[in-house]
Amino acid sequence: MSSTPSSSDAAALPTAASHYPARPQFSGFMKPTGVEGDVGTLEVYGAIPAGIDGTFYRVMPDPQFPPFIDNDPWFNGDGSISAFKIKDGRASFKQRYVRTEKFTREREAKRALLGKYRNKHTDAVEFKVRTTANTNVVHFNGQLLALKEDAPPYALDPDTLETIGLHTFDGQLPSMTFTAHPKFDPATGEMVCFGYEAKGDGTPDICYHRIGADGKFLETVWLISPVVAMIHDFAVTENWVVFPLIPQVCDLERLKQGGEHWQWSPETPFFVGVLPRVGAKPSDVKWFRYPNCFPSHSCNAFEDAAGNIVFDLGLCDKNLFFWWPDAKGNAPAPETLHTKLTRFTIDPRSEDLELTEAANVTVLQTGNSEFYRLDDRFATQSYRHAFFDLMDPALGTDFRAIGPQLGGGYPLYNSLGHLDIVTGETEVYYPGNTHMVQEPVFIPRRGSTVEGDGYLLALVNNYASMSSELHLVDTKDFGKAVAVIMLPLRLRHGLHGNWVDAADVAK
Ligand SMILES: [Fe+2]
Repeated sequence: MSSTPSSSDAAALPTAASHYPARPQFSGFMKPTGVEGDVGTLEVYGAIPAGIDGTFYRVMPDPQFPPFIDNDPWFNGDGSISAFKIKDGRASFKQRYVRTEKFTREREAKRALLGKYRNKHTDAVEFKVRTTANTNVVHFNGQLLALKEDAPPYALDPDTLETIGLHTFDGQLPSMTFTAHPKFDPATGEMVCFGYEAKGDGTPDICYHRIGADGKFLETVWLISPVVAMIHDFAVTENWVVFPLIPQVCDLERLKQGGEHWQWSPETPFFVGVLPRVGAKPSDVKWFRYPNCFPSHSCNAFEDAAGNIVFDLGLCDKNLFFWWPDAKGNAPAPETLHTKLTRFTIDPRSEDLELTEAANVTVLQTGNSEFYRLDDRFATQSYRHAFFDLMDPALGTDFRAIGPQLGGGYPLYNSLGHLDIVTGETEVYYPGNTHMVQEPVFIPRRGSTVEGDGYLLALVNNYASMSSELHLVDTKDFGKAVAVIMLPLRLRHGLHGNWVDAADVAK
């Protein structure tokens, strides 16, 4: 392998395809677009409330070139950042790719060079950093950080979306990896984060760190994981940090043989690591165990009056990442997957590390849900309102009509949910019979400090028009949208995003 492809060694490279494969993750609405650009003023139906002033940033995997490997999963695509700026009742749109090393070198070579998801042994050339920066985008210390859990962040200019470069916090980052789901303390602006496989592929090392709002590292603790498993999301309370391990496990030999980074392990329990948030030693971590299942995204965590950790997350009894089967090739059919918003109550002082359904688990919402969000002003604290994507076929989705355009490769959700955790009641926003929803963000109502008082904003895929829309819902009247903002193009299914309020940036 050479570090840069040239005409003389081009013959040694794997054959580059000139079109995308006929797979669900590259078809219909999921066909890659490669679009970068700006729209000054977007068309609006209804009215955007005048008090909304800020930017919704989100990121989607959108491969720049067809892959040269077979059945590349949806989220191996290049990170493309969308910014929707909303002010004075109007919305504008801007979209740029993150100029990662991968993106830049592939653009130069005019073809794909990176191989399988998180397997460097399958690459056509040697990369220093393989990240696609395609999983989340957060605003921190005056910059946007585009995140994927296998590498440090890439920093971007929040106004222009121009890539500043690989971001190691001025050399303070000791880990080779950085989570795509950092948590923010609303009181201090502190960013609590970690990296796993932190010393390289297949290593059991977890590097936990806290970063002050000014970007200075406050603390680093190195931990050893009981198994080299995916830690996609985590949770933070005032005094504790919680690491849920997904039973998708990595094996170095498999990687070297060109296999997948992840393999579902039905024998592996659901490990829950618990660590004091401040001043911990590596030996302070406790690894609680629960029967094998799939922990999906976190909603929130806090401590109850008795000092227990209350941890709310999505829980699926099967392998939610069905595209990475077990050692025998077994994977559940996507339509059989059902993830429920579930509450674990864990006593961090307990010496008994076995968690049970009877003693530790409450299902908060029985619907098939994912992409949980809250009013971020209540992150790490006791809270009442949870927002999420829901899939309820009974709402009337016309699957026959939209089926040919759906594409796929990921679980689908057709509505937005709002759970009042105190009453147990759920309100639903259903955008229409030919629509699917992406992850929502919560926007506080200007001047209101009441939890959950504001708006939910979500990108919606319209399969009848084959274009994207932003739906804005007032949480005081959740059944309908106050505004639908139309895009003149189709945005593939994305992963995560965040609302950045102009008032918070001005602070
Ligand atoms: Fe995620």
